Amino acid sequence: MRLVLVGPPGAGKGTQAEFVAAHLAVPKISTGDIFRANVGQGTPLGRQAKQYMDSGQLVPDEVTITMVRERLAEPDAADGFLLDGFPRTVPQAVALDKMLADLGTQLDLVLELVVDEDEVIRRITGRRQCRGCGKIWHVEFDPPMHEGVCDRCGGQLYQRDDDRLEVIEERLRVYQRDTAPLVDFYGGQGKLVGIDATGPVEDVTVRAIDALRSYGG
Ligand code: AP5
Ligand code: MG
Repeated sequence: MRLVLVGPPGAGKGTQAEFVAAHLAVPKISTGDIFRANVGQGTPLGRQAKQYMDSGQLVPDEVTITMVRERLAEPDAADGFLLDGFPRTVPQAVALDKMLADLGTQLDLVLELVVDEDEVIRRITGRRQCRGCGKIWHVEFDPPMHEGVCDRCGGQLYQRDDDRLEVIEERLRVYQRDTAPLVDFYGGQGKLVGIDATGPVEDVTVRAIDALRSYGG
């Protein structure tokens, strides 16, 4: 299955992507994680992306589209994938349709995680991520057993540079301006299904998987 997760910053895309991708046995491709890995390694792509990420802006479409095109050409994505954080502009969505058409295929479904703004701010401000395995935690809603340490791999947890309130507010503005139009874009293609992404993580996963089942996933 070829699936896209869309939703505002902090909606739970990364959290759900992990479970849904495992359920579908497809790779999870998170553009935010790829950019952060490049920032951490100090690559030219990372240096370029960092200035945009730190201020809550989107990395330019040409850069992001090239990166995703290369990632989708890897063998593990040949039979399906779950995209987390891409596309997030209409030009990116148009480019994705074209990339897939060139490969003789198309997207199956776009899952929208619906959460209000107050909740996403609570989620983002308490988020912690593992430097080792990338697992996402929350200090209140999903805390690890020992503060600052990942239960899964023992790695150190950190707070993302863009998880400061002033940057979060900018990311939410950018979402409304550049990414929310995708709801109409994919709605028009008949590929959009929205789910309530509030409540416990496990309940949201069940709703996501139920939605996929009704579309053959
Ligand atoms: P990216 O990393 O994609 O950030 P984002 O879209 O802002 O989304 P987040 O990762 O903040 O939220 P999420 O929905 O994944 O939530 P999570 O599961 O972590 O992008 C970062 C930056 O990279 C962008 O600003 C941009 O600069 C650049 N970029 C990336 N892609 C790009 C693109 N395509 N084009 C251009 N630029 C791009 O959950 C949040 C918290 O909530 C966690 O602590 C979690 O534990 C908790 N939580 C999750 N579910 C629940 C629940 N049900 N109940 C309670 N808590 C929950
Ligand atoms: Mg994420």
